[in-house]
Amino acid sequence: MNLRSSLVLTAALTAASCVAVPEIKGDWPAPSLGGRQPLVIAHRGASGELPEHTLAAYERAIVHGADCIEPDLVMTKDGVLIDRHDIYLSTTTDVADRPEFASRKRLATDKDHEGREDWFASDFTLAEIRTLRARQPFDTRSKSFDGLYEVPTFEEVLDLAASRTTITGSKICVYPEAKAPSLHASLGFDMGGEILRLLKNKGLDKPGAPVFIQSFEPDFVREMNSRTKLPVVMLAGDMNALSEAMSKPGAPYWDGLGVTHRMLFNEAGESSGVIEASHAAGIPVHVWTYRDDAPFGSEPIEDSMSKALKLGADGLFADFPATARRVVREMTPGRFSDPS
Ligand code: G3P
Ligand code: CA
Repeated sequence: MNLRSSLVLTAALTAASCVAVPEIKGDWPAPSLGGRQPLVIAHRGASGELPEHTLAAYERAIVHGADCIEPDLVMTKDGVLIDRHDIYLSTTTDVADRPEFASRKRLATDKDHEGREDWFASDFTLAEIRTLRARQPFDTRSKSFDGLYEVPTFEEVLDLAASRTTITGSKICVYPEAKAPSLHASLGFDMGGEILRLLKNKGLDKPGAPVFIQSFEPDFVREMNSRTKLPVVMLAGDMNALSEAMSKPGAPYWDGLGVTHRMLFNEAGESSGVIEASHAAGIPVHVWTYRDDAPFGSEPIEDSMSKALKLGADGLFADFPATARRVVREMTPGRFSDPS
């Protein structure tokens, strides 16, 4: 980010007001917002080890020290929120091997997926989705668990989180991402309304509840900000996306900012100013995605995490949450002991 855009961002963000966000207080040595210990956010569960977005992957993430579990959400034909990263099913399930669903394969109709021929979650009822089994989508990761797990619903993830605590005894935070909300709206679905309905049913609709709602779509984030007092997080994959979000009326209309690690530093390796500007407005910054098996160049992933934390990152999305927990622990003065 150049100096001018940094100043514009700082000025705009400073005008923001914030709602309460889940807090983990600690004696933290880096410039996180309020000196809070950063959140370890299990990206798609412990997705580096088990097929992503399965209850098993979320459970393992909790055991490995996650503060938050992250379900990406799409909708079924009958309007149920299920946990998938993509609107299509071929990469993370065995749908392509199911002769009974062969005729469902079709071309995508939306621009973002133009040319993609696949099976789409919105063409399947939940009962049909339940017959599928999850698969590991990364070629370099273990396929040993393929075929074992069902595709969970968002409601099941909320129930799982409510039934567990973190390794230090706190509530598990759930960090849902609405995938393609505008596409779902064009199909007649109100994703945001359904997310909020389920959260309310579980008593998770009040400020301070252990929930963050996230999206890459600025209009959806704006709308959600007016529909709930829960923290809503604006995701940005690059500075252009952040600028686009900032260009909308009322910006910043988010309570948290989720950025790729590439946005933290300039080419000289210095801070880009994104974290500082966001903190000046009282808005925490969560950074993605840290993968033990896909480090950023030759730098060990622990060093990349540590650099982000020293800059003031308020949370890390990690496919291997045990690694993020270890890095956080090693930076924590008077380290705590894990229960054995
Ligand atoms: O939501 C933060 C991060 O998960 C964004 O990337 O594509 O893995 O959902 P993606
Ligand atoms: Ca996500």
